[in-house]
This record gives sequence, structure tokens and C-alpha cells, in this order.
Amino acid sequence: MVATDGLPIIKLGVEDAIGGFALSTEARWNQTEEDWRVFLHEGVVFGIRDGARLVATAALLPYSGNNAWISMVLVSATHRRRGLATRLVDACLETARKNGLTSWLDATPDGAAVYGPLGFTSTLQLQRLKLVRPARAEAPPSSSATIDALRARDRRGTGFDRTALLSAIAQRSGSRIVSANGAIALVRDGRTARHIGPLFSDHAAAALALVDTIARSETGPLLIDAIVSQAAFLEGLTVSGWTIERPFQRMRFGPATAMAEEMPFAVAGPEFG
Ligand SMILES: CC(C)(COP(=O)(O)OP(=O)(O)OC[C@H]1O[C@@H](n2cnc3c(N)ncnc32)[C@H](O)[C@@H]1OP(=O)(O)O)[C@@H](O)C(=O)NCCC(=O)NCCS
Repeated sequence: MVATDGLPIIKLGVEDAIGGFALSTEARWNQTEEDWRVFLHEGVVFGIRDGARLVATAALLPYSGNNAWISMVLVSATHRRRGLATRLVDACLETARKNGLTSWLDATPDGAAVYGPLGFTSTLQLQRLKLVRPARAEAPPSSSATIDALRARDRRGTGFDRTALLSAIAQRSGSRIVSANGAIALVRDGRTARHIGPLFSDHAAAALALVDTIARSETGPLLIDAIVSQAAFLEGLTVSGWTIERPFQRMRFGPATAMAEEMPFAVAGPEFG
């Protein structure tokens, strides 16, 4: 057994992007080093080192309206079940408390086992689906969708103003915003698969048609984090070959703050909500 109890919690800096990326890669997550730089630049990332090696992390990303997103809760397999995740999430909650923020997160089943006892309560259920297709790529759909349209829709769907975050992601070379028939989505690169989300639509049929258009123009595997209560959308995805990978449970610590006006079909990813 490794004696980890005394290892101090430290605040990480941008130079820790590589160490963080090693941890998310060990967990087979899809984040890129660029994603880590978002958390390290825009948020507060706590970590624990054992010697020179980063062995555990948790990030708090401030959102508008006194909200914050907690993510990147990762503990290396060599250091699990010694309370490191609990201590790191506690550090995030303490920061949130000091700043009067309500904390949100999308938990894996393992993560939910840590957060429940800390006082988080469950809200939305999500399912991650994957499409592995040796597609014949068609030309990407022409779309006049803008970051402003996505940002406005995102605000209605989440209750958060995420202009800075969405703009930063949308500006990456592998990203695009696609829209048609009242549906709009962001597509971006990931470590092992491209990710579709957030996705907003007036109805399930338009959401499915947009996903289909995107899928036909992609050559590699795709991921989408769908909201379970959008039952027709979820069913349509599975009928078209998407397979369910794992559930996520959205959880909240603190009073309900964000007032969403419409239900998204898919979210930006568990790391961003
Ligand atoms: C989930 C994870 C972060 C937990 O880290 P950890 O440092 O082992 O967690 P802790 O030691 O603080 O666990 C606290 C309690 O949570 C529960 N718990 C933690 N991991 C669990 C698991 N895999 N299964 C069931 N319960 C678990 C236990 O009640 C545990 O207390 P105990 O060890 O006294 O029984 C770690 O397993 C991990 O990195 N997993 C892969 C990535 C992931 O899923 N992250 C969560 C994202 S939301």
C-alpha cells in the first residue's frame, strides 16, 4: 500500500497539462491536451503529486450566474480508494463555497459513488453513445451557423452564458458549428473520437437529421452525450447504429440557480456540462 494520506493538495498551472492529459488518457477519456489547458487557464485545478508524478486531479470551472462546473476528477489506478478524490472534490467545494457558487457535474458511476456521500443531489440523466463507422465521407454540410447562434441557444438550454468557452472550442481547427431546420450542434476533436455537442433542436426529428448529416461527413468514430429524457432522440440514435457506452448522472451541490428554457438533446460533454 502506498502511503498517500499525507500528500498535500496543490493548485496546478498550465505546465501541468501534460500530467493531466496522462491521467485522463489512463482512464481512457476523450479529452485532449487543449481541453486541459482550458481548465488550467480558465478554472482552478487541484492536484496531488506522488514524487514528481501527478496522481490525482479535480477542476472547478466558473460559469455565469454563480455557477461552477466540477470535472476532471481523476485518480490514477495506483492510488485509488485512499480518499484522494474525496479530498480534491472537497477542495473544489470549499472554493465554490467561498465564492458563493453552486457546483454542477456529470458523474460516471464510479464518480457518483464519491459525490453522493459529499451531499450532491442527482438531476438529469445522460447516456454516452458511440458511432464507429467506416464511413464514406461526404463533403461537410454547408452551414451558415455562427458562434452567436450557438451561444444564444446554449444559454437557453443550460441557463449559463458560456460565450468564452464555446468560442474557444469553436475556434479550434478541428471544430465546426452545423445547423439545419432549427437544430444546431458543435462538433470538435477528441483524443480518440470526435464529439458532437451541445446539440439543440426544436424537435427530435431535426436533431436526428442533423446528427445523420454530421455522421455522413465524418470518417472516424463519433461520441454524443444524449439527455435520457429526450427518448425519441435516444431511440433514433440506437436505431441508426449508435451504441450506448455508459451513463452519466448530472448532480448539483447547492441551490438550483440556472434557469434553462429548453431541454438540449445532447450536452457539451461531461467535462463541460
Ligand atoms: C472515481 C475515482 C475518481 C475515485 O477516486 P478515489 O480516490 O479512489 O475515491 P475515494 O477514495 O475518495 O472514494 C471515496 C468513496 O467513494 C466510493 N467509491 C470510490 N470509488 C468507488 C468505486 N469504484 N466503486 C464503488 N464505490 C467507490 C467509496 O465509498 C469510497 O470510500 P471507501 O474507499 O472508504 O469505500 C477514481 O476511481 C477514478 O479516477 N476513476 C476513473 C475516472 C472517473 O470515473 N472519475 C469520476 C468522474 S465523475
